[in-house]
Amino acid sequence: MSEIRFDAVHHRFGERTVLSGIDLTLTEPRIGIVGANGSGKSTLARMINGLVEPTAGTVTVDGVDTAKQGREVRRRVGFVFTDPDNQIVMPTVAEDVAFSLRRSGLTKPEIAERVAQLLRRFGLDGHADHPTHLLSGGQKQLLALAAVLIREPSVLVADEPTTLLDLRNARMVAELLAGLAEQVVLVTHHLELLADFDRVLVIEDGRVLADDRPAPALAAYRQAVGRQ
Ligand SMILES: Nc1ncnc2c1ncn2[C@@H]1O[C@H](COP(=O)(O)OP(=O)(O)O)[C@@H](O)[C@H]1O
Ligand SMILES: [Mg+2]
Repeated sequence: MSEIRFDAVHHRFGERTVLSGIDLTLTEPRIGIVGANGSGKSTLARMINGLVEPTAGTVTVDGVDTAKQGREVRRRVGFVFTDPDNQIVMPTVAEDVAFSLRRSGLTKPEIAERVAQLLRRFGLDGHADHPTHLLSGGQKQLLALAAVLIREPSVLVADEPTTLLDLRNARMVAELLAGLAEQVVLVTHHLELLADFDRVLVIEDGRVLADDRPAPALAAYRQAVGRQ
């Protein structure tokens, strides 16, 4: 697993402090992040692959500074957004996954083979030539995941990847995430997905309120919600 480190991280958007005093060393295979809307979860998650640079402090992945070496970090850390429509760029399923390998140095037949393998693994092989806009929400999220994982990142950060999906599709995506060999950082409101996780961070008003095994962390979260 990779080592994801936050050292004295603060973040402001304009006047507004969004994260403060974040010190974390994350090395576990399965890390969950929960917290109220607006608490800073997405900002924290985006820092792991340099999509957001901290206004103070540093974030590193295996010692690589996300602010200074963004490209190198993004090779190691894949990111999946809540809305797969923001991530799907090509007209068909196979083309979209292949697009991720455009700068890989692989030949066209090698890319085609890798794409075919991955689509089989994701149960999308019957959809290789389908227009992406005709996929179901769940299939779109699988496609977005496939397009990220084909680049073989060591860490996958997923920011509420099941929030827009119905129960059946949410389950399908959750099962796929659960079976990955890659290290996963999952931001979610679907707390049941975190039951088997190694570590859960509870974010409240830009700070880490709890950082523990799932049961005690989620108990702290529920208690905090109850206080409000
Ligand atoms: N690009 C941005 N510019 C200004 N404010 C932002 C931006 N992104 C997020 N914020 C603000 O930062 C706070 C935390 O946002 P976010 O990290 O998205 O929280 P969460 O994912 O927990 O809902 C919110 O108050 C949000 O409005
Ligand atoms: Mg968010």
